[in-house]
Amino acid sequence: MPNIVVVGTQWGDEGKGKIVHLLAKDADVIVRYQGGANAGHTVIDSRAEYTFHMIPSGILHPGKTCILGNGMVIDPAALIDEIELLESQQIAVRENFFISHRAHLILPYHRAIERANEKSKGPRRIGTTGRGIGPSYADKMARTGIRMGDLLDPDLFRATLDQNLAEMNLFFNRVYDTESMDLENIFATYCDFGRRLKSHIVDVSLVINDAIDQSKIVLFEGAQGTHLDVDHGTYPFVTSSSSTAGGACTGTGVGPTRINGVVGVTKAYATRVGSGPFPTELNGDASDGLKTRGREFGATTGRPRRCGWYDAVAVKYAVRVNGLSSLAVTKLDVLDGESEIKVCTSYLHDGTQYTDMPFNEAIMHLCEPVYEVMEGWKTPTSGITSYQQLPEPAKRFIAKIEELAGCKVDIVSTGSREDETIILRNPVTGR
Ligand code: GDP
Ligand code: IMO
Ligand code: MG
Repeated sequence: MPNIVVVGTQWGDEGKGKIVHLLAKDADVIVRYQGGANAGHTVIDSRAEYTFHMIPSGILHPGKTCILGNGMVIDPAALIDEIELLESQQIAVRENFFISHRAHLILPYHRAIERANEKSKGPRRIGTTGRGIGPSYADKMARTGIRMGDLLDPDLFRATLDQNLAEMNLFFNRVYDTESMDLENIFATYCDFGRRLKSHIVDVSLVINDAIDQSKIVLFEGAQGTHLDVDHGTYPFVTSSSSTAGGACTGTGVGPTRINGVVGVTKAYATRVGSGPFPTELNGDASDGLKTRGREFGATTGRPRRCGWYDAVAVKYAVRVNGLSSLAVTKLDVLDGESEIKVCTSYLHDGTQYTDMPFNEAIMHLCEPVYEVMEGWKTPTSGITSYQQLPEPAKRFIAKIEELAGCKVDIVSTGSREDETIILRNPVTGR
């Protein structure tokens, strides 16, 4: 039975949460493999609206095993808040919920160093979510990070924290001119977090591989999107993890031979939060229309998302670097009011045409989109559940996405609710 990775093909907020929730119905185990509380997924089921930052949206289906992989960076305070909020909404989180002992911790100094660093960057700032993501991954790679499992060994935890804090406090005092952080306070608070999360902290690679051995179906959930990936995205305006499909292996301890497919979630237009190049970005009324109809405000920071036309160059690139087996197109209904719809097929810079993502940051910032203009449908598609019911121009738009991406569309989403979906083929069941 297929084990599937779900990734974003753009700059995040493609509607991955809705698609994961939908596919999780037919899966047994749902694993998040990278990032942390920088993600924000809004999911609406028959009961209520939920916002997820770390816990996979599959948790809404009773009896599923949900896992936070070793590729994540976890802020235990934010995680406990998320668990308690879901429990207050009558969602049972603590059964079948596991956290990798190898996942790295986000500590208060990570958030502080990120704030100071972003401030000092001026116009080169990334516009991060302020959750301490980058500094925690920096510690991981510098081999000074502290991991979830370390919370269960107070002596080791204290020694590493002491060493890290000594260095951080020098930085705070001498470079950023801010106050030192107190060892005792952080140590006591985090030991308490460790006690509260202890029963969930395990070797998740064992849990997931055992599940696959028993022919259970595993869904790997990527946060952010392809163009925010630290290797393949619009560097340096990216997040600090591997959000593309390869991250599913390193971020969980499951080998590539055990994964059978990759679904790329792609919005029918494009959005981006934070700084960085965005060739199809719109301004003024055109942008406001998409922002309002698509409710394009960040689920984590509340920031308005920058909006633009569908960028087929960016999505074709995502098909390649993720090895996508199919696409899930979301938010088709948001384009309902448009009399014409633009699709970016290449970029132009200084007389050169680019049909693939330029590596050079300066070119990415300055390139002009080349559009193919398509007829809009100007009739509601909202809530449509069958492909046949779609207006002809909408069918042509979907066919154009497939043609330009070189990848078939399995799912079309026509609303935020779980039933507002056209399923041409379910990537998990194959039907
Ligand atoms: P994620 O981070 O990729 O999970 O996406 P977000 O949850 O941050 O943003 C997607 C938003 O669009 C959420 O508020 C969803 O409820 C909503 N959404 C998802 N699919 C559709 C759709 O097909 N149509 C509309 N109108 N909204 C959708
Ligand atoms: P989901 O999973 C959209 C962006 C931030 C910033 C950059 C780096 O909901 O799609 P970070 O805090 O990660 O160091 O910020 O990445 N970013 C996202 N944008 N959706 C997300 O997650 C994002 N997570 C991070 O805005 O530009
Ligand atoms: Mg989001």
